[in-house]
Amino acid sequence: EAIDHLSIVDSTNNYLKQLAREGAGEVRVAVAEEQNGGKGRLGRGWVSVRSKGVFVSILLRPQLPPALAGNITMMAALAGAKAVGRLGFDAKIKWPNDIVVEGKKICGILTEMSANMDAMEWAVLGMGFNVNQMKEDWPEDLLDKASSLRMLGGGRKVERTALLAALLTEMDGLYTKLEAGAFGEILEEYRKHSATLGKRVRVIDSKGEYTADAVDLDEEGALVVRTLEGEVHKVLAADVSVR
Ligand code: BTN
Repeated sequence: EAIDHLSIVDSTNNYLKQLAREGAGEVRVAVAEEQNGGKGRLGRGWVSVRSKGVFVSILLRPQLPPALAGNITMMAALAGAKAVGRLGFDAKIKWPNDIVVEGKKICGILTEMSANMDAMEWAVLGMGFNVNQMKEDWPEDLLDKASSLRMLGGGRKVERTALLAALLTEMDGLYTKLEAGAFGEILEEYRKHSATLGKRVRVIDSKGEYTADAVDLDEEGALVVRTLEGEVHKVLAADVSVR
């Protein structure tokens, strides 16, 4: 696989989307030292201070129906958590796809794709890891929710290339499984890394806002919750916010 190492770009996702539209094959990886238009989920930005984080996107051409886009993102969350685990951190996944260490977000994932009714044309998986950022690299209001591996590891610098290498290794194995139709195996491992299962969560979905216990994941990766009244609901990643 080819890795494009960019000094500065608006967004590694945009960069690979452009290449995808021009017909680039999989697997293409883009890493940037700095992004001046980093994108987060829900139309938010992603603070991408120069040479502090791992800002990486991967172009895939998955042989999967478009409805399974969420599975790719959950697979990436697991790959990311395992990669961070290899560096000695206790990384967990906050459903559906934030990676946390000690409850603080250290990685977010933004998947963008193009598909027609029955096939995905391409998917760009973008991951932003907070690696060597220090307090002063961020707006203050992010600090109670987010952190970096360096801050969590007592100030010791973390090798960004080691993280990237571990990520690509983990992703390789898991993506092969995903394309082989073995999402069940991925889920089994995902459950073990879950920071959400067994916890009380606040759900905001089409039924309103309510408190519930996160009890399981169904075979598609939806979160199964039990409300305080004992009703069981399935919540889909697309329409829920879990706190
Ligand atoms: C989130 O909101 O949690 C998702 C953040 C995703 C950030 C990464 S950084 C690399 C890639 N390029 C982007 O513009 N966004 C993603």
